[in-house]
Amino acid sequence: MKNFERYTVTTALPYANGPIHIGHLAGVYVPADIYVRYLRLKDKDVLFIGGSDEHGVPITIKARKENVTPQDIVNKYHAIIKKSFQDFGITFDIYSRTSMELHHRTASEIFKTLHDKGEFIEKTTHQYYDEEASQFLADRYITGTCPHCSYEKAYGDQCENCGTSLNATDLINPQSVLSGNTPILKETKHWFLPLDKYEPWLKKWILETHKEWKPNVYGQCKSWLTQGLQPRAVTRDLDWGVKVPLDGADEKVLYVWFDAPIGYISAAKHWAQENKKDWTPYWKDKNTKLVHFIGKDNIVFHCIIFPSILHAEGSYILPENVPANEFLNLENDKISTSRNWAVWLHEYLKDFPDKQDVLRYVLTANCPETKDNDFTWKDFQTKNNSELLAIFGNFVNRTIVLTNKYYEGKVPAPGDLCQLDKETLKALEDYPDKISLHIANYKFREALSEMMNLARMGNKYLTESEPWKIFKTAPDKVRTIINISLQICANLSIVAEPFIPFTAAKMKRILNLPDLNWQQAGKPDLLSPGQTISEPEHLFEKIEDAAIEHQMAKLHDAKSANEQNNRVVEPVKADISFDDFQKVDLRAATIIEAEKVPKTKKLLKLTLDTGTGKRTVVSGIAEHYKPEEVVGKSVCLVANLAPKELRGIKSHGMVLMAEDVDGKLVFVSPAHMISNGMTIK
Ligand code: MF3
Ligand code: ZN
Repeated sequence: MKNFERYTVTTALPYANGPIHIGHLAGVYVPADIYVRYLRLKDKDVLFIGGSDEHGVPITIKARKENVTPQDIVNKYHAIIKKSFQDFGITFDIYSRTSMELHHRTASEIFKTLHDKGEFIEKTTHQYYDEEASQFLADRYITGTCPHCSYEKAYGDQCENCGTSLNATDLINPQSVLSGNTPILKETKHWFLPLDKYEPWLKKWILETHKEWKPNVYGQCKSWLTQGLQPRAVTRDLDWGVKVPLDGADEKVLYVWFDAPIGYISAAKHWAQENKKDWTPYWKDKNTKLVHFIGKDNIVFHCIIFPSILHAEGSYILPENVPANEFLNLENDKISTSRNWAVWLHEYLKDFPDKQDVLRYVLTANCPETKDNDFTWKDFQTKNNSELLAIFGNFVNRTIVLTNKYYEGKVPAPGDLCQLDKETLKALEDYPDKISLHIANYKFREALSEMMNLARMGNKYLTESEPWKIFKTAPDKVRTIINISLQICANLSIVAEPFIPFTAAKMKRILNLPDLNWQQAGKPDLLSPGQTISEPEHLFEKIEDAAIEHQMAKLHDAKSANEQNNRVVEPVKADISFDDFQKVDLRAATIIEAEKVPKTKKLLKLTLDTGTGKRTVVSGIAEHYKPEEVVGKSVCLVANLAPKELRGIKSHGMVLMAEDVDGKLVFVSPAHMISNGMTIK
């Protein structure tokens, strides 16, 4: 009999502008998949949703850099990401994408409904506009000097040097990434979601009725809500995204964080279309439990903004829980795409083919549930060799080997039970509930560790009973031991399925078990006496030091490549346009006279031959060169520098010098003697 609990489980839609790495898997997709596989084993009705988030400014920036369209970018990465999820056994019912027409229609309709209900506030604001490119500039399209730390390449939304969030108008010397020009402020109209208006409702809904949410999630919501919410713009001046469905808004799209979560709804429709099903119970039936799996940077969008949209719309259910995780680090350092400090899923599978479960296991054991956690290759090796292989694999393998050896692969009938047998069967009966309870509370690490404890119990039982020593003397006892060990293996194939599904499937094949559900777990008679099992197959294999050293070397290469990149000259001043550079008039010249400027330490008065006449330039090089040392030098002169008076002498231009590592100034001069007055460009 099916029990009619229905769940809609969503996972954050990854941006389709790069492949995915272990951090994504550990924080969102593996926990969600464990949860969903468990619910299915309990015969719940589940719709498991994933998809690619294909809008947003970073995708347009990547497309521009690579000289392709944003659609090209998302097509490429959508396929790569989708394949990674399949490879790792993430059992989505649908993996959709937000560039689909179906999604555009769904998002527009919801926007339109809110608009027609008069929910939005319309505001005209001033926004940076690039006159040459004739377009408004998204924050990421503007760089300038950070008002906090003076870093000259800060973005319009954030300074990556000091980490401060910025408004584009905070930047000093703002410049458009598109043309290099200084943007102008131009009027533009946008639609705002009045979060302040929903605040009292949100406070009640979250702070009073969802006290059970994880402390990290509840805490973040509480802090947002007590600081007070402001109306938030849900439209953008951009040409990539869902068009704003209103007259006169042709060049505007919905803000990516408005449309992306609606992608969960579109995905359900997509699933319904492909499977000839009805999607509405999954989004509109009040008894359906909606659960969002996300990373901590997505909390505000899933707990405050998206629920506000759904609440304002009025016909959808709200999340029952949002089990957000913290972040996973790699070898004690933040995972970073730009620094290539990551383990990419497609690369992992090349190096460790068929070892999806090992990674799933290690990532679950290190799941950043309550705080940031760390993945290290050494730990990966240890967990494989001394847990999966030495405990789980060893136990299952010994049991199968002994069954084949003693009983020609037929399950033996048990005889009388001793105290240890009884205790073992009692514990076996209790494990499924222990594991259930943890999964139901989103405590996947603890659930996993109980699953491993069951294998550990089996391993210990077999080791302590020593059937190989008493096979001749106590054949009845041995039949009991092997029967019980086989029942434990059969149980493991059920309770391990959410965590290590590939292994569980292999075990079921070896044990010739049909599909079993969670209700059957804990039973001592899953395998009947006389039933045949197959030959042993290895579930896990040893991971050698060499494989781990290879991974460490790979990371090390990434690190040194980064360090080298950092040593390449990064501009320390704001970019200038080519036109700006062209304004500088540089000429070859020769120093024909030099003398110290009296009462100064640093200054020399130089007379230059500029090809067409003489020039006086005052230069701060007296601590590096005596006057007689510089006469005759070929130099590079900034000829159009506005004249400046120094110690009563008018200086007409500047002689370019380079600074050595120890601070010594060196002349910048042509490699060969050239005629004075020739231009340098
Ligand atoms: N693309 C977002 C990110 O990677 C997540 C979007 S989740 C959704 O941070 F709800 F908007 F779909
Ligand atoms: Zn800064």
